[in-house]
Amino acid sequence: MDIEEEVARRRTFAIISHPDAGKTTMTEKLLLFGGAIQMAGTVRARKADRHATSDWMKLEQERGISVTTSVMQFPFANHVVNLLDTPGHQDFSEDTYRTLTAVDSALMMIDAARGVQSQTVKLLEVCRMRTTPIMTFINKLDREGRDPLDLMAEIEEIMGVTCIPFSWPIGIGRDFQGVYNLHRDRLELFRGGEHAVPEEIVSVEDIDDDQIDELIGLEAADALREEVMLVREAGDAFDLKKYLNGEQTPVFFGSALNNFGVKEYLDCLVELAPRPRHTMTTTREVETNEGKVSGFVFKIQANMDPAHRDRIAFMRVCSGTFKKGMRLHQVRTGSQIRMHNPITFMAQERSIVETAFAGDIVGLHDKGAIQVGDTFTEGEQFQVTGIPHFAPELFRKVRLKNPLASKALHKGLVHLGEEGAAQVFKRQLGNEVIVGAVGSLQFEVVAHRLQHEYNVDCSWEAVSYTCCRWLHGDQNQIDKLARLYPQNLATDARGHLVFMADGLYQINSIGERYDDVRFSKTMEMTASK
Ligand code: G4P
Repeated sequence: MDIEEEVARRRTFAIISHPDAGKTTMTEKLLLFGGAIQMAGTVRARKADRHATSDWMKLEQERGISVTTSVMQFPFANHVVNLLDTPGHQDFSEDTYRTLTAVDSALMMIDAARGVQSQTVKLLEVCRMRTTPIMTFINKLDREGRDPLDLMAEIEEIMGVTCIPFSWPIGIGRDFQGVYNLHRDRLELFRGGEHAVPEEIVSVEDIDDDQIDELIGLEAADALREEVMLVREAGDAFDLKKYLNGEQTPVFFGSALNNFGVKEYLDCLVELAPRPRHTMTTTREVETNEGKVSGFVFKIQANMDPAHRDRIAFMRVCSGTFKKGMRLHQVRTGSQIRMHNPITFMAQERSIVETAFAGDIVGLHDKGAIQVGDTFTEGEQFQVTGIPHFAPELFRKVRLKNPLASKALHKGLVHLGEEGAAQVFKRQLGNEVIVGAVGSLQFEVVAHRLQHEYNVDCSWEAVSYTCCRWLHGDQNQIDKLARLYPQNLATDARGHLVFMADGLYQINSIGERYDDVRFSKTMEMTASK
C-alpha cells in the first residue's frame, strides 16, 4: 500500500468529557470492536487517575501500564484508528490540552442527566482554538436523563456549534427502546446486555413505515414521528464541510455501558471524520504524503524506570514513512537521534508493525534529550507550530529544606518543565522561582518527583498570583510596563516575558491602558525568543 493510501485510512482522535460521563467505558467498547487486547490494563490505569494522591504515586511506579494505554491503535473497517487517551484527572489537564494538538478530531461524551459540564467546556476551548471537528455522544440513555432537545440546545449555546442529530432516542431511562437512525433511516432497538452488537437493527422505508408501530408500540411511534419531524424541519441538514470546520457536530444518543450506539459512532468516525491533516510549521505546510519523515513530540511520560530516568516521548508522525532504527534530526538541537526500538501501539500486530505514517503515534525512548514541542525531520529546518503552553491557574513558590540542594532543584525543575509536568517561571525581582500548574495535584507530583529523582526536599509556599499572560507586541510599551510593574514580571523557561497577576481584573485594567501589548493565554512551545 502506498503512503497516500495508508494516510487516507487513518483516523486519530481523542475523547473529551467531564469525569464520570463514560469515557473509560466508551474506550473499552471501542477497543472491543477493534479487537484490541489491552482492555484490563486500560481500565486499571484510567481509574487510577481518580484515586487519592498517595495511590496515584504508587501507581506512578507502575507506569508501564499507562504508557501502553496512552495511545490505542486498532483496525476497524479497513481503517487504522488511533485513540489518544487523556488523563482523567482534571489536575493533569495541561497534558490533555496538548494531547488534543495531536488529534484530527474529537468525540465529546455527555452524560444525558448532567449535560455539558465544566471540564468539557475547557477542553472544547482547546478544540475550538484548532477548529478540531467534534462528534457528540450523549450517554447513559438507559438512565433517566434530560430532554434531548434541551440537551442539544445547551450544547449549541455553550459550544457555539449546530447540533445535527444522527440518531433520535425512543424514550429514556426505563422507557428507552433504542434510536431511530436519521442518517441511515433505520430502527436500532435496545435489547440490553453487554454484547458486542446488542442492538436489533431493522431497516425501514422511512419514519412513516408501519413496522415502527409494531416494533415500539403506537404511542412511542407517534411521539417519535413528531420529534423526528420537528428535528428535521427545524434543524439544519448535515454538511460535511461545516462539520470539518467545527461549525456542526453530529450527535449520537446511546449507552456506552450497554454498548449501544458505539458501533454507529465508529462507522461515522471512519466515514466522516478527517484523515490526518497537513501540519503547519515555521517555514511551510508539511503534507502528510511527503516522502520524508517529520513529526512532533506532544507528550513525555516519565518514570518508566525511576532508576534510569527513562522517559517515553510520544511523537505524532506528520509525514513520510517512519521506520524503526532510522536516524532523525532533532531540529531544536541539531543532533541526530536514532529511533531505537520505538514503541508502536498496534494492539494486534505488535510484532510486524515497524513502520508508521502520518497520524500515527510512536513512543521514543529518551534519556532526557527530548522536550515536549520538539520537531524531528530528516534534516530540514522547520518546527511544527500550534503546540502551546497554556497559562497556569495556580502558582507556588518553592521552599527548599536544604539550601545546598539549590543546584539539584534547578536541574530537576528544568527537566520537569521540559516534560510539561509543571511550568517554571523566574521572577525578575529577586530571581525567585515560581512554579505554575493547572491543577494542585501537579504540585504534589513535582515535589514527590524532586525528592525521589533528584534528592531534593522541598515544600510549597503560597503566592498571591492567580493568573498569568505572555506578553507580545510593541516592545516600547512592554518595556514601559516592565518598569512600572517589576513585581509582576517574570520569564518562562525559554525566556519569554510573562505578566503574573493577582487576578484577571488586574490584567484587564492594565491591558486597557496598553493598547499595543497583547496579553496571551497561550504560548507556542517552539517559539524562540
Ligand atoms: P469516565 O471515564 O468518563 O470517568 O467514566 P466511566 O466510563 O468510568 O463511567 C462512569 C460511571 O458511569 C461508571 O459507573 C460507568 O459504569 C457508568 N456508565 C458509563 N456508561 C454508562 C451508560 O451508558 N449507562 C449507565 N447506566 N452507566 C454508565 P461507576 O459505578 O462509577 O463505576 P463502575 O463501578 O461501573 O466501574
